[in-house]
Amino acid sequence: MAVERSMAKRPNWSSGFAFIMATLGSAVGLGNIWRFPYVMGQNGGALFLLMYILLTIFICSVPLLCELLLGKQMRRGVIRSYEKINKKFSIFGWLCFATSIFIPCFYFVVGGWTVNYIFIYLFGTIPVNEISQATFDTFAAQPVAPLIMGIIFLFLCAIFPFRGVNKGIEQANNIIMPLFIIMLFFLAVTGLFLDNSIEGLKFMFQPNVENFTFKTVLTALGQALFTLSVGMGCLVTYGSYLKKDSDIIKSSTLLIIGNTIIAVLAGIMIFPAVFSFNLEPSAGAGLVFITLPKVFAALPFGQFFGLMFFVLLFFAALTSGISLLEVSIAAILEKFKISRKIATVIMSSIILIFMVPTTWSFGPLAGYKLFNMTFFEIMDFTASNILLPLNTIILCVVVGWILKPKMELLTNNKKFYDVFTFLLKFIVPPVLILLMLFGLGLV
Ligand code: PFF
Repeated sequence: MAVERSMAKRPNWSSGFAFIMATLGSAVGLGNIWRFPYVMGQNGGALFLLMYILLTIFICSVPLLCELLLGKQMRRGVIRSYEKINKKFSIFGWLCFATSIFIPCFYFVVGGWTVNYIFIYLFGTIPVNEISQATFDTFAAQPVAPLIMGIIFLFLCAIFPFRGVNKGIEQANNIIMPLFIIMLFFLAVTGLFLDNSIEGLKFMFQPNVENFTFKTVLTALGQALFTLSVGMGCLVTYGSYLKKDSDIIKSSTLLIIGNTIIAVLAGIMIFPAVFSFNLEPSAGAGLVFITLPKVFAALPFGQFFGLMFFVLLFFAALTSGISLLEVSIAAILEKFKISRKIATVIMSSIILIFMVPTTWSFGPLAGYKLFNMTFFEIMDFTASNILLPLNTIILCVVVGWILKPKMELLTNNKKFYDVFTFLLKFIVPPVLILLMLFGLGLV
């Protein structure tokens, strides 16, 4: 019965707001907070931002629209959507499915770290001024604790798809995203009042022609695709819950603007504080789990600010994590005609199995490397540099050359449609091939 019910009626987002919050929740994640601001500062500042915006508009928006279009037209998850175009194309859907397992394997490990830091700041288990590099290194190297934190994070992500699209995913994003935005504003404005905050703003925004190279352009493109959650069927899945008359161009525009503003605000939240305490800016785990705790140690009410920051980071990772899980859940639920709850349990279990070696890449398995990469790095590299661009190229070719999107599903403006299809067929695929070669170190 449950299966029949879940197959019979496909859920719809209950409002345009719910759809925007869900896609924004997916887009805004670790990519915005621990990568974008630093990459921007390192690669030409305001010039990078300008490039990023141009590439988003002229390149990334095309596969982004394609994914939404495919979902809206097929009203299926990623495997069945490809299958509906041509049975033989199901392999492309499976590739997206594989990506939706690869990414959580490392993303959720980091999600687990944020949970750990929330506990530290909430309960004060380590005094704020004693949280250091050693705190992080010791924690990440343990066999059990980071795994438990990762499992807690996975569990928290899985609850929402388990409960369903409206009662779970939609409700979570409707509450978490506005809260996230308020917290981000608060922390960004607070950061601006610190001494010397101008140096942080200079690091981020000062246009620097010397640091701006061809590599910068491809870095900006890769960042834009990852942060907009393009390339693994996430937007196909979320788009498949859209009503027939929804305006995907308007939603995509809001998504792109919102995501960019949030990434820039994240930088305004972080770098004035980092520079104000004379610390070195960095990216990734080093920035978030090592540099920023030093800032909180030096701030009045450091425990409060630390807690707030890690809750904010957790929210960002959680809403992206929900969307990552929903891709594979929606795909197997339809493919094998099982209930949503069973699909959630199966996918969470599979991801959990792969999370063991990625978590242990910082401890018991740190010495085991292939091509000089740990298991964590292999998953990250394969997903970000091979699978995401590859899936995006396939998507553009299949939608542009084979499906040929119907104009009425997209727009009633013929000129816009012509530019879109031209970019889709002739410009975006070669640019993405270049990105992939770059990611593989071949250009
Ligand atoms: N956009 C997320 C981030 O910037 O952290 C990551 C992500 C989520 C990538 C969902 C891909 C995806 F399908």
